[in-house]
Order: sequence, then C-alpha cells, then structure tokens
Amino acid sequence: MSELVRVENIKKVFPKNGTDVSVLKEVSFGLDVGQSIAIVGQSGSGKSTLLQVLGTIMRPTSGRVCFRGKNIFDLSESEIVGFRRHKLGFVFQFHHLLPDFTALENVSMPLLIQGNLTDKPEKIAENWLDKVGLKDRLDHAPYALSGGEQQRVAIARALVGSPEIILADEPTGNLDFERAKEVAELLFDLARKNKIGLIMATHNLEIIHMADQVFRLKDGYLEKVR
Ligand SMILES: Nc1ncnc2c1ncn2[C@@H]1O[C@H](COP(=O)(O)OP(=O)(O)OP(=O)(O)O)[C@@H](O)[C@H]1O
Ligand SMILES: [Mg+2]
Repeated sequence: MSELVRVENIKKVFPKNGTDVSVLKEVSFGLDVGQSIAIVGQSGSGKSTLLQVLGTIMRPTSGRVCFRGKNIFDLSESEIVGFRRHKLGFVFQFHHLLPDFTALENVSMPLLIQGNLTDKPEKIAENWLDKVGLKDRLDHAPYALSGGEQQRVAIARALVGSPEIILADEPTGNLDFERAKEVAELLFDLARKNKIGLIMATHNLEIIHMADQVFRLKDGYLEKVR
C-alpha cells in the first residue's frame, strides 16, 4: 500500500509569559492511502495543535509533514494554500456552516473557492448531500437542521472538493451517543470507500474501533495504542 502522509519528529513550542510551553515534543507516524487514524488524549494534550499543524494552519517548530514524500512546509505560501484547498478537508466539533446559506450552498462553497467552474458545483454538492443522507434537506439553512444533520452537511462539505486527507477534530463531540456513532460510521465509511486518508482526534472511545490505527497523545509524545 502506498504511503500518503509521513509525519517526522514534529515539535511545537508555544511561548507563554516568557517561558516556552512544549506541547508536541516528538510526534511521528505514517498514514497509507485510504487508511484512518484516531488520536485520543486528555484535554490539553495537543490533539488540536497537531491537527492544525497537519492542516498547514500552523507551522511546526521543527519536523516534517511529508505528503506523498514531499515536505509540505518546504512549499511556498501560495502552494501551501493550494495544497490546503485541493488536498485537505476539515470537519470540526462545531459545524461552522455559514448561517445565511442553505445546505446545498454550504456544500457548493469549497468548489467555488477551488475555482471549479467546468463541472456544475451544485450537482456535485447535491450528490454528496445525497451520500450523507440529506437529499431532502438541500434547501435547509443550518438553523433548520438537527445537530447530527449539521455534522452530515459539514462532512459533505469536507468531501466535496475531492480531498486526499480529511482532518477531523472531535467531529462527534457535540452529539448524543447514537448520533455520534452514526456520524462517525458515516465519516469512516465515506473515507474508506473514496480512498481518502482520515485523521480524527476524539474523546469518544466508543468510536475508535472504526479506525485502522489508534494513537494516544501524552506529555507531548504520540504512543501507538494499536
Ligand atoms: N496558540 C497557542 N498559544 C499558546 N498555547 C497554546 C496555543 N494553542 C494551544 N496552546 C496550548 O497547547 C496545549 C494543547 O492544546 P490543544 O488545543 O492542542 O489540546 P487538545 O488536546 O486539543 O485539547 P481538547 O481535548 O480540550 O480539545 C494547551 O495547553 C493549550 O493551552
Ligand atoms: Mg482540541
């Protein structure tokens, strides 16, 4: 199986009141095409920090994040923006849908940002909303959707641009037990079927069995659980 991501010796230090706080001390792992990883760890252990580094939202203090063998932090700023737009999809704890737009418009948005004018963005978006089970909710604004439905729209939005990696930061953190399980199953299933790598930080131990690998972040180090 070919390797999609290789994370090598990531360190992240935040300066705080004159003293440095070392949040990530040594984080290394690999992810193959279409495989999934769950990352657990106590609150404050650095899960979101790690996902932000992987998502190129923040540079590591040192270390490399190689995508198909090439360190993304060696790219120029505009190439990094292009990488983020075309290769990555994000799902967060709170849906971050645009409140004044319908589900269909929210899911179309990444395609418009990518500059996809050849195919019909709304057709592609509709197709993804169908895949997350929301074909009959296309015209609903976020306020007119349940929490589980809002996360399904967020998943469709993350997938619509044909990313190669999905980064999910506690995507079920705001849902009840049953809804959390359904949303997690959907996300793992769609990632696997579409051969998209999935890296998910979660507190929900009921869903980590769905991941191909599980890691724990502790004291700045990433330990393999299985
Ligand atoms: N921009 C920043 N500047 C300084 N410190 C930061 C910054 N971002 C995060 N931290 C610190 O890094 C540590 C890890 O935070 P992070 O949000 O990554 O944890 P987490 O594992 O995602 O926690 P949770 O499970 O609560 O979401 C915390 O101690 C936090 O205060
Ligand atoms: Mg977090």
